[in-house]
Amino acid sequence: MTTPRPLPPHSGEPAPKLAEVPAFVEMIAQGWGAAELSAPVVDGAGEAAGRHRAALSQAVGQRDVVVFAGHAPIRLNDCYYEFRADSNFVYLTGCQLEFGVLVLRASGTGHDAVIFAPAPAKPGDPKFFTSAVVGELWVGASPTLADWSAALGVPVRDIAGFADELGRLDRPLVSGTVASGELAQYQLEASRELDATLAHLRMFKDDWEIAQLREAVDASVAGFGAVAAAIPEAIGLARGERWLQATFDRHARTFGNGPGYASIVGSGPHAPVLHWVRCDGAIDPEAPLLLDMGVEAVSLYTADVTRTLPPSGTFSPAARQVHDLVERSHRAGLAAAQNGAHYLDFHYASMEVIAQGLHDWGLLKVSVDEALAPTGQQHRRYIVCGVGHHLGLDVHDCARAHPEHYNAASLGPGMVFTVEPGVYFHPNDLTVPPELRGIGVRIEDDVWLRPDGAQEILSGALPISAAGLEAWTRAQQA
Ligand code: GLY
Ligand code: MN
Ligand code: MN
Repeated sequence: MTTPRPLPPHSGEPAPKLAEVPAFVEMIAQGWGAAELSAPVVDGAGEAAGRHRAALSQAVGQRDVVVFAGHAPIRLNDCYYEFRADSNFVYLTGCQLEFGVLVLRASGTGHDAVIFAPAPAKPGDPKFFTSAVVGELWVGASPTLADWSAALGVPVRDIAGFADELGRLDRPLVSGTVASGELAQYQLEASRELDATLAHLRMFKDDWEIAQLREAVDASVAGFGAVAAAIPEAIGLARGERWLQATFDRHARTFGNGPGYASIVGSGPHAPVLHWVRCDGAIDPEAPLLLDMGVEAVSLYTADVTRTLPPSGTFSPAARQVHDLVERSHRAGLAAAQNGAHYLDFHYASMEVIAQGLHDWGLLKVSVDEALAPTGQQHRRYIVCGVGHHLGLDVHDCARAHPEHYNAASLGPGMVFTVEPGVYFHPNDLTVPPELRGIGVRIEDDVWLRPDGAQEILSGALPISAAGLEAWTRAQQA
């Protein structure tokens, strides 16, 4: 047995700050080899961002532009959530440098681009061991700003130079939805107009963006398979929903950047809850299981897919009846979501089928026409949300576009959007017969209008019929 060593003598005072101990500062500055690193930029992202900057340059004319990446939000005290850069910054740079700022300086003919970002603190810089933001002992060996410049094809300079650069700009247009701290620090205000312009540009996806969305959707389809396969092990757990949510999220973080939004896993009475992200319920093997989950690719483009599965492999007659109605509504929505159609056509096409179905079941106390009229909308009790939205870097992409470019516009080539009708009967809804209470069904697909205007359902690998989903669920569990 060894005798414990006595504690070293100390005065009871807090330990000295390491940065103020010269012997330590000198010692830790030395003895480090070079780390092999390259900036983490997805293939083609720098080039795509260059095209996006050129389009923005055209759209804004000779105005200077400043776009902030933002920084990780605080969870508690000095603990942070993982950083996810502002989508406009990602769109225009192809990277997510925390605390980064993109400057587009009007050059007479176009714009000169430069990114400002904090340099990593290397050995010899006290921040190497004191800064949890840039210190390599805290965040790991990091690419230099020169590495970032080479990877992105844009000069990347130290953030210390940004204030001077700002002084040289002429009333810049500013964007930074998630960068409120930085906006306040530099006494800037975000430009509604710039955000609307960027939202409109982002609505039309180029080939590289479609490849990213395809990757996100394909990974999501695989994630749905992983979740369906995990249903048997989730049944019996008090928080089986969470087991399945974590199954998808693990998949998303392993094969992409992560989930593109909080994954929704709602069993039985939770299925009708539109944003059931709490997921603290059990899995009822006999009740429909609503899964709304999307993988965000490493490039940060995200899928947004929903299927409602029969955990046991077979829908009950009541669940099947509701699913069949939602499937008809979904097919009507897809049929209306064509190149040249008004954006709202698919919304109304889906809603009409739902209103008719509810009327046939005696749930609408008014005529279908009366319900569909703007002054009625009684059917919306069972579907208060919309039937779709644009999809891209944000799950609800282009949300800051002017209405004339969104709800009031026509669908056109390059657009990617969801079609996602549903019917939601809450367990305590006394207006529906007991056998339908607690049934919620949504079918959500990701739709692309190709350059030639043809429609492609990116998430079409997953079935949408009740019979198809029964067979598919069984196959994942075989
Ligand atoms: N998952 C969010 C939505 O479907 O819009
Ligand atoms: Mn959606
Ligand atoms: Mn969704």
